[in-house]
Amino acid sequence: MVQIVVGVVFVALTILFAILVVRVRGAKNPLARWLGIVLGGLLTVVFALVGVVDLAGVYRLDAPRGNPARNVRVAMTADRLARGEHLAHLCASCHSTTGDLPLDGGRASMLSNPDGSGLGTLYAPNLTPGGPLKDWSDGEIIRAIREGVDKDGRALIIMPSESFHAMSDADVQALVAYLRSQPAVSRQTPPRDIGLIGTLLVGTGLFPTAVQAPIAQPVAAPPAGVTAEYGRYLVSIAGCQVCHGADLTGGRSDENGPPAGPNLTVIVPRWTEAEFVQTIRTGTDPTRHSLRAELMPWKELSAAFSDDELKAIYAYLHGLKPSEHVAFLSAQAGG
Ligand code: HEC
Ligand code: HEC
Repeated sequence: MVQIVVGVVFVALTILFAILVVRVRGAKNPLARWLGIVLGGLLTVVFALVGVVDLAGVYRLDAPRGNPARNVRVAMTADRLARGEHLAHLCASCHSTTGDLPLDGGRASMLSNPDGSGLGTLYAPNLTPGGPLKDWSDGEIIRAIREGVDKDGRALIIMPSESFHAMSDADVQALVAYLRSQPAVSRQTPPRDIGLIGTLLVGTGLFPTAVQAPIAQPVAAPPAGVTAEYGRYLVSIAGCQVCHGADLTGGRSDENGPPAGPNLTVIVPRWTEAEFVQTIRTGTDPTRHSLRAELMPWKELSAAFSDDELKAIYAYLHGLKPSEHVAFLSAQAGG
């Protein structure tokens, strides 16, 4: 809301300065005239840019998207609850005060630094029945997870719907069943509040929103099993690409982005299947390197996946074409 006012103020300043520039053209003193035209013109352009980009950001963040919510009611079955509880660990690094279940909401703003500076306030909300989801339909929750919009159709940000977009109907329904079955924790997280710089970044598109294309067709996962195909599915819904790069050859470092993970296409094939499973289970790799849990969510991944699922992930990663170019960079970064 504040950012609409900011945008309107900048547009008003643009008009004001444009009028001033027109007026100053008639000034007698040539120095005053040219200074007025150059400075006033410059400010007019800057104010216009800030105003337009800010309003574009407000639009991207707050205008409802057209994604329809499905009309489904998810029945609670024992199988669904068990599967959903496993998958819910993929949400725990953000949506929990403890990094574990229940998903009682994030413990800190994801947009600010410990000293309070940053792009604004954004908490991963409480997903237990004590939080806002008690008033959402099952279809609205499914849409939020896979398509990145809230109950009113507004864009979410940071929420990794880009990864969850591939989630099967069965898996996303299992998640909804589990979310509804959690103990109701009544903990309220502060509302989203994004500052001018954050809104400008969204307005230019440098900071993408979570919004994904509407899903109209049924989505099925490959058959579960220790296969590269199923591993590929698990890698995409676990969001490995968010940090390890689109082709898993290493992520890029960016202060406001996710942590940059190393090149998995060269590291993992050097390990045996057992060594890979052991690394995710213990957080220590075959070279005795301890993974920093605050950067690489190995505890959550370990809780989310069975041994067979980790073996499927290994099968997929092992079969990828290694990219040596980036390997050199990530070997240095990881060294
Ligand atoms: C990288 C951190 C992160 C992960 C992982 C994550 N989320 Fe989120 N999620 C967020 C943030 C941040 C928001 C709030 C976004 C906003 O308001 O713009 C959010 C919002 C949501 C919302 C909307 C809630 C509301 O009250 O508006 C739902 C539902 C949700 N997430 C479900 C999930 C589920 C289910 C998972 C796991 C499968 C998950 N999220 C994983 C960060 C995350
Ligand atoms: C939130 C970001 C993030 C996500 C999501 C993530 N990783 Fe990582 N990963 C990292 C970072 C950062 C490191 C380096 C950590 C360190 O060295 O302390 C890492 C390290 C690793 C390593 C160890 C590499 C080595 O040389 O020891 C493996 C294996 C790995 N990740 C696999 C995965 C897989 C598979 C997934 C998805 C199932 C995944 N990661 C998801 C950020 C992430």
